[in-house]
Amino acid sequence: MSDAKSSAAPSIGAPMNRVDGRLKVTGGARYSAEMPVKNVAHAVMVTSTTAKGRIARMDTSAAEKAPGVIAVLTPANAPKLPHGTKPPLEPPAGRVLSLMQDDLVHYNGQPIGLVVADTLEHAQAGAALVRATYVSEKAQLDMATAPLAPSDKGKPPGKEPVSTTRGDLAAGLAHAEVRVAHTYTTPFETHNPMEPHATIAVWEGEHLTLYDSSQGIFGEKKLAAQTFGIPAENVRVISYFVGGGFGSKGSSWSHVMLAAMAARAVGRPVKISISRRQMFGPVGGRPRTIQKIALGAKKDGTLTAIRHDSTSATSELEDWMEPCAVVTRMLYASPNAETDHKLVRINMGTPTFMRAPGEASGTFALESAMDEMAYALHMDPIAFRLKNYAEQDPQTGKAFSSKSLRECYAAGAEKFGWAKRSAEPRSMRDGNSLIGWGMATATYPSHRSPSSAVARILPDGRAWVRAGSQDLGTGTYTVMTQVAADALGLPPERVRFELGDTEMPETPVSGGSQTAASVGTAVNAASLAVRSKIVLMAIADAQSPLRGAREEDVQVDDGKLSLASDATKSDTYGAIIARNGGQAVEAEASTKPGAEAEEFSMHAFGAVFAEVRVDRDLAQIRVPRVVGVYGVGKVLNAKTARSQLMGGIIYGIGMAMLEETQIDPRLGRYMNADLAEYHVPVNADVQVIDVSVVPEIDTRVNPLGVKGIGEIGNTGITAALANAVYHATGKRIRDLPITLDKVMA
Ligand code: MOS
Repeated sequence: MSDAKSSAAPSIGAPMNRVDGRLKVTGGARYSAEMPVKNVAHAVMVTSTTAKGRIARMDTSAAEKAPGVIAVLTPANAPKLPHGTKPPLEPPAGRVLSLMQDDLVHYNGQPIGLVVADTLEHAQAGAALVRATYVSEKAQLDMATAPLAPSDKGKPPGKEPVSTTRGDLAAGLAHAEVRVAHTYTTPFETHNPMEPHATIAVWEGEHLTLYDSSQGIFGEKKLAAQTFGIPAENVRVISYFVGGGFGSKGSSWSHVMLAAMAARAVGRPVKISISRRQMFGPVGGRPRTIQKIALGAKKDGTLTAIRHDSTSATSELEDWMEPCAVVTRMLYASPNAETDHKLVRINMGTPTFMRAPGEASGTFALESAMDEMAYALHMDPIAFRLKNYAEQDPQTGKAFSSKSLRECYAAGAEKFGWAKRSAEPRSMRDGNSLIGWGMATATYPSHRSPSSAVARILPDGRAWVRAGSQDLGTGTYTVMTQVAADALGLPPERVRFELGDTEMPETPVSGGSQTAASVGTAVNAASLAVRSKIVLMAIADAQSPLRGAREEDVQVDDGKLSLASDATKSDTYGAIIARNGGQAVEAEASTKPGAEAEEFSMHAFGAVFAEVRVDRDLAQIRVPRVVGVYGVGKVLNAKTARSQLMGGIIYGIGMAMLEETQIDPRLGRYMNADLAEYHVPVNADVQVIDVSVVPEIDTRVNPLGVKGIGEIGNTGITAALANAVYHATGKRIRDLPITLDKVMA
């Protein structure tokens, strides 16, 4: 394969506009619920109104007679599935769904019925007529008194163990001269992407097509095949555009399989669009956490001990763990450290991935505690962190594949003006505003999974590149176009990248910030492979000026092949194809991680600085500016990267200041299940956000040198804000969100 480089300005890194931008702003981008499927019926889920118990009776007679209603499915008549609600798959694909296979209710809002009608309005009206009565039991809704789930069953994702220990924690704490120990809590949070979940299910005989808003079409394909007992090749999942995911669409939830079940039952396509209210309950969320942190340090700031115990809430259905303490294993160089995770079971829907699952909640606790220790030591929080800088992974002893955290601290402090901070709480004021400056470390692991792609050069010299994958709005279409363009030696305008279909080469779930590393590597490899094929065709072609050249000597620029040693000898993709049969030339590549993960500890890092202004009388908190500086390896697109990092910070402002799903403590009902009462940041909550990256070349993490940027922005930021609120007010808030009542109390 040629490693000859194209001489044109590289497309990778350029702040290229989104290739799908025009489609999106003109309404030409079709989201799943908008796919033009003929004869589609509409289904609306009926959900439970008790949090625990058994369905005594469901009266569907009024719904069945309602205008336009085609069918009403309940546990009494729903088709039985070969594996019930639990096909043999691991998460993220294998979740325990609520598919009306029994009459048990595990949480309020659980799907217990489905009304299918000719229009959405008829289905909604029909669903409102279904009456369920229950034999209710006392629900467990309080984390404080809930029973522990068997801790050996819950497990962090990947290879991370549930608990770790290094050195001698007790000795480390005993030898400490200063100790800090506190409990930090984070609330249940609900994903609120612009586009709620939506599915259209179409059966043709034993073949099922799902148009679904999904972060993982291949996982969904496997899950649907197992759910319905059909071969995987009979299932096609299509997801061309996704209006935000943030982890909520990384697993397929009950409504997807219910749409397919209903479509088979009524003999026509069925669409389910989840309402905003139904985002709360049956489709996951970020679980509540209770995290205990203990730190010990010498007076000079050297950490002697770190302990991080995290308890998170899961459902009766699954042992879903929020791996909060994993980040504590690798972030600071304490010789003695212990981490542990526990689960408690409550009567709520099973939680799931939510932007930086584990790291977001975990860095809130750890980086708040680090700030508390810095105050206890009378040390600057950056100096304290530098004192305990991990030169290699302190848990595994492995070298970091690259780490630019020092540069991030320095650049962030400089941009923010950190040197002008006076350390004393309540010491910085502007009129009636107390001003607080806080900072924290951000970090997120660099993941990669096996992925494949196909690249094709067409007779007209354009290219067509495909990989299953998903674009959650992050810019996958755009960055993959750029990766392919550079590898092919074509301008991006002549590359068409397509995704979102399981008929395309297999790719992983778009979760864990791994799409650029995984799919990008495959797109790069497939593009290089097809370019090489054509170069070899030219070399073997008697009519080519490049005949007999060495492959390494051939460069491709703007679709023109020429010799590096003699640029007057040239050919083009189009001409070579025309002389050699006129057919498109294609190559497929399958790529997978090598041994690098065994050899290196691979993470992105950053430093985030926040200013808050707190009204001295009313405790109203504003966030006038945030500065984030990150070391994330190679940036594929300066514009979409900036948007991802900025979006992560905005997500963190929501988590720190606004978001909390409130549950009725007796009934387990979601009390703020809409965007009027579940607050996410709006423009008025977001002022200046200054994000940048430090140059970082990582040749170990993956062939493209990218580390993933979708989630790191939502790490550290909540602690930076909590630390800023403490600096402003002298009040330490250890319970998110930081609302003004807590500051005033
Ligand atoms: Mo992300 S929460 O891993 O989709």
